[in-house]
Amino acid sequence: MLVFGEVELNKKQKMHLTKQDILDSDRIKRLNMINSLTGIKPGNIVGSISNDGKTNLAIISSVVHLSSKPGLIGFIMRPHGEVKRDTYNNICENGYFTINHIPTSHAEQAHYTSAKFDTDISEFDRCGFTEQYIEGFKAPFVEESNIKMGLKLVEEIEIKSSNTKMLVGEIQHVIIPDNAINETGYINLEKAASAGISGLNSYYKLEFLDSYPYARVEDVPEF
Ligand SMILES: Cc1cc2nc3c(=O)[nH]c(=O)nc-3n(C[C@H](O)[C@H](O)[C@H](O)COP(=O)(O)O)c2cc1C
Repeated sequence: MLVFGEVELNKKQKMHLTKQDILDSDRIKRLNMINSLTGIKPGNIVGSISNDGKTNLAIISSVVHLSSKPGLIGFIMRPHGEVKRDTYNNICENGYFTINHIPTSHAEQAHYTSAKFDTDISEFDRCGFTEQYIEGFKAPFVEESNIKMGLKLVEEIEIKSSNTKMLVGEIQHVIIPDNAINETGYINLEKAASAGISGLNSYYKLEFLDSYPYARVEDVPEF
């Protein structure tokens, strides 16, 4: 029998939680459940650097594509009240950052970049990643990542209901292995060995399932 707050369920039954059940449940269980609820999230580590040259890496699962022309990518920065936020401070300081896919071979190292290290300690060194630079671009890339992009901060959007911010970056550089992208531009995440994330501590390998043509009404098969 699984127990969630006041709700008990037999494994064969499906759990139904109301807003009140969720509010009444144990804090950690609620946090884990809500964080896993949206399904697989992209696994990325964000690279940044302060103006005095201190590098930083932070695992971020909230990365989302916003537009292709210009290429815009956003991610959610959680509230930073009493918590220090090296990533946020660095990006605001110099306006540049990188987003690097987590390779499945380095999921554990990527996970530990979330620890609250002192600003003087670089997660690159402490968590076993290698800094990589592109001439003329300030922020550090992760050498071990197969897919990575360099971005310029263009907007910071306040989300009042969650006390978070969305940072929007415009893509300046993209690096993709030749064997992971096809002639129409589709990226195969299985070939790139990119990891997916569920919740705050579970990592997945991704397996390519299938791809389908653009969905025109007249082409929809009979199901
Ligand atoms: C799986 C996972 C996903 C995370 N996703 C985010 C996220 O999307 N946004 C965020 O602000 N913090 C996220 N975090 C927390 C940051 O990684 C953590 O606060 C990090 O230490 C920020 O460090 P900094 O002080 O070096 O910037 C996540 C942590 C984990 C373990």
